[in-house]
Amino acid sequence: EKGGFDHFMLKEIYEQPSVIKDTYRGRLLADQGIVRLGGLEDHIEKFLNADRIIIVACGTSWHAGLVAEYIFEDLTRIPVEVEYASEFRYRNPIISEKDVVIAISQSGETADTLAAIKLAKSKGAFVFGICNVVGSTISRETHSGSYTHAGPEIGVASTKAFTTQITVLTMMALRLAKAKGTISNSAYMLYLRELELIPDQVQEALLSEDKIKEISAVFKDARNFLYLGRGYNFPVALEGALKLKEISYIHAEGYPAAEMKHGPIALIDEHMPVVVIAIKSEHYEKVVSNIQEIKARKGKIIAVVSKGDTAVRDMADYVIEVPHTPEALTPLVTTIPLQLLSYHIAVLLDKNVDQPRNLAKSVTVE
Ligand code: M6R
Repeated sequence: EKGGFDHFMLKEIYEQPSVIKDTYRGRLLADQGIVRLGGLEDHIEKFLNADRIIIVACGTSWHAGLVAEYIFEDLTRIPVEVEYASEFRYRNPIISEKDVVIAISQSGETADTLAAIKLAKSKGAFVFGICNVVGSTISRETHSGSYTHAGPEIGVASTKAFTTQITVLTMMALRLAKAKGTISNSAYMLYLRELELIPDQVQEALLSEDKIKEISAVFKDARNFLYLGRGYNFPVALEGALKLKEISYIHAEGYPAAEMKHGPIALIDEHMPVVVIAIKSEHYEKVVSNIQEIKARKGKIIAVVSKGDTAVRDMADYVIEVPHTPEALTPLVTTIPLQLLSYHIAVLLDKNVDQPRNLAKSVTVE
């Protein structure tokens, strides 16, 4: 049942190239310049007329929502807010019929997300669900939605659900940007073609597993980790830290790299591994200087870099390469090494990877 893998989590990590393809199959027709999600087409006017989009979710799904905030605002110019469902529901939030709420949930059963949906519906908002489990409560309670088609996710630590959620959200952003005229035709076509290539690039990212195993052996006894990223990769840093906490029980924090100097830099010493997403992007130079600041304080750098990078290689203690893709799509590849890092550290520490202590696969109580 684990398909030859030692754990469901590893099987699910390795399924990502094929499930991302399943997620866009029949929906993304790059040659024809078409992105089509049934649940979106049926209600596209709601999105096009929305004053703003509010995304509600918990945990890893909330991180997918944060990635979506970048891509939606960047491409569609619709204002987006991303909320923890548990906070949103108890905050007496301002919601109206002009708002579109997107609820993201792998299981489709998360109590807080469900309660947030009910609240939004009672205020007249249009609610769109992105779920993995077909027929789940959230998929039934929303006005419309799109499934992620990741297949059953058994490991408590979410992996393929995250990347397929981002795939759906990216397709939505592209479709809406096209409809709104906020994207040039050439950029639109480029994104479609690049998105179609993502499964191959995820496959390529998986080739770093042996190297990541070695890095895991070096750092498995660390008591704390920092994860840093900027822009589209800030949420990836949060997700990397969550994965490590969940399955290895090592304390980890994700931060936007530029926030370092506002506090966390005080933590840096020779015992602190810092995972930095330092891919070629708009923020590259800035992230490089963050790395220098950490090195000056003797922190240990594990950098996720773009293939062929040389500048970071000279500074970092360890580098893991990922293939090139436009910045908006990079979370789909930069996430992969972080999943593998947390997996291998947990395995080396002999933890119960698929069923970590104190956690349940779906959180049906608030
Ligand atoms: O099923 P959901 O996506 O609604 O679940 C939300 C969170 O409980 C979930 O992502 C949790 O954080 C995972 N264990 C993360 O790996």
